[in-house]
Amino acid sequence: MPVARRDRLEVLIQRAAIEKRVRAVARRITTDFKGQQLHLVGVLKGACIFLADLVREIKLDTSIDFIAVSAYGPGHEPTGQVRMQKDLDSSIAGMNVLLVEDILDTGLTLSYLLRILRQRQPKCLRVAALLDKPSRRLKEVKADYVGFTIPNEFVVGYGLDYAERYRHLKDICILRLSPSEGPAASATSR
Ligand code: PRP
Repeated sequence: MPVARRDRLEVLIQRAAIEKRVRAVARRITTDFKGQQLHLVGVLKGACIFLADLVREIKLDTSIDFIAVSAYGPGHEPTGQVRMQKDLDSSIAGMNVLLVEDILDTGLTLSYLLRILRQRQPKCLRVAALLDKPSRRLKEVKADYVGFTIPNEFVVGYGLDYAERYRHLKDICILRLSPSEGPAASATSR
């Protein structure tokens, strides 16, 4: 999909740096769970590309599931409420679970997910987030494995979208929208 006319994309993290960091995070996870099984839970849709790359670098016996929630409206304005859109396909009771997120922003999504997944009694529940934007945090949550800590810029690519566009980009880019996009054009929220 082409870049919309007058939107500007500025590369923040190049694909080679992403590849290298994903491999390093996978090595840490492999070491931490050595000899054990690991169940990866991807948070749709943004985490799908990170999860796909991460799971292929983790040298463990792994399985995969997905969950979908939404805290944002179509133009990425926060709705203030997290809603479940797709639940897990199977139980996580007694399993080592790694929740895989593309970005940790206000923390509302992760806080909700940790609460509902803990109730399901996994053996262990950890979080891998490719990107962390701590300056935007509203809830006190942390990821156990972080790819990159980034400034308060609206980023797209490598799974992250703006209104469903730009997920396919191989680099992570700062998106500067054209003024015609309206009030959301200056959005810094995820
Ligand atoms: C994004 C991202 C995280 C969440 C983080 O999802 O994938 O799940 O926002 O934001 P928070 O820390 O402020 O809660 P989004 O709702 O945009 O859906 P998507 O993954 O389908 O793009």
